Amino acid sequence: MKNEEEFISTVSHEMRTPLTSIRGFAQTMLSSWDKLDDESKKKFLKIIEQQSNRLIHLVENILSVTKIPDEKLVFKKTSVNYSISTVIQIIKQKYGNYKFELNLAKDDPAIYADADKLEQILINLVENACKYSEPGSTVKVSTKETDKSVIIYVQDEGCGIDEKYADKIFEKFSRIDNPLTRKTQGSGLGLFITKSLTEKMKGKISFKNTGHGTRFELEFPQYSMEDHARCSVTS
Ligand SMILES: Nc1ncnc2c1ncn2[C@@H]1O[C@H](COP(=O)(O)OP(=O)(O)OP(=O)(O)O)[C@@H](O)[C@H]1O
Ligand SMILES: [Mg+2]
Repeated sequence: MKNEEEFISTVSHEMRTPLTSIRGFAQTMLSSWDKLDDESKKKFLKIIEQQSNRLIHLVENILSVTKIPDEKLVFKKTSVNYSISTVIQIIKQKYGNYKFELNLAKDDPAIYADADKLEQILINLVENACKYSEPGSTVKVSTKETDKSVIIYVQDEGCGIDEKYADKIFEKFSRIDNPLTRKTQGSGLGLFITKSLTEKMKGKISFKNTGHGTRFELEFPQYSMEDHARCSVTS
């Protein structure tokens, strides 16, 4: 099958499950309205809401994936610490029952990047760190500078990823089967988007199984004088 056909067939399959469930619960409510007590109605509406959210998330990710090849990134001097702090504030609203520990390089390292896309990358990694570990556990985000690069670590205390899946997790629609993946919703597109955007910004992404969880590592070239001289919009 051609790539495009394969993509459409996977997307349709991914959409069918939530759509079938939304239709099923709506039909049950319509046909048995008088027989259902308030609690059941509320439960069914909750499922309809959850499945609609799942569809919206899927559609947003699919749009992101299809835009990637010809999307113009807006490159500028971007503070890594500022991006991390913004992302942690956003994630805390959804994952209030996790602990976040930041250990950021003091001199505020900068990279030549699209700030919105850097935030999208960090949101995907920090959200995964929460999704695939138990509430109450700690997610650590730290930065380190080397001669020519800035390294960002996102570390969790979760279920870990077997290193034999090193390539697989970055593929479209791939989810690794484990109890936490089964419990959480996801389209399997987050890391594909994350890797594509990282590479568009001349960065690299990898991960390590720490034995007590996973540590993702992003490495970007440090902002340089050449970057300063470059024009601000590149593809
Ligand atoms: N920090 C992590 N710890 C353990 N497993 C992880 C972690 N991050 C990703 N994974 C595994 O890799 C798979 C792919 O991750 P990815 O972010 O691409 O998709 P997702 O989280 O399932 O869906 P979404 O598209 O909503 O991000 C996940 O389903 C999960 O099995
Ligand atoms: Mg994800």
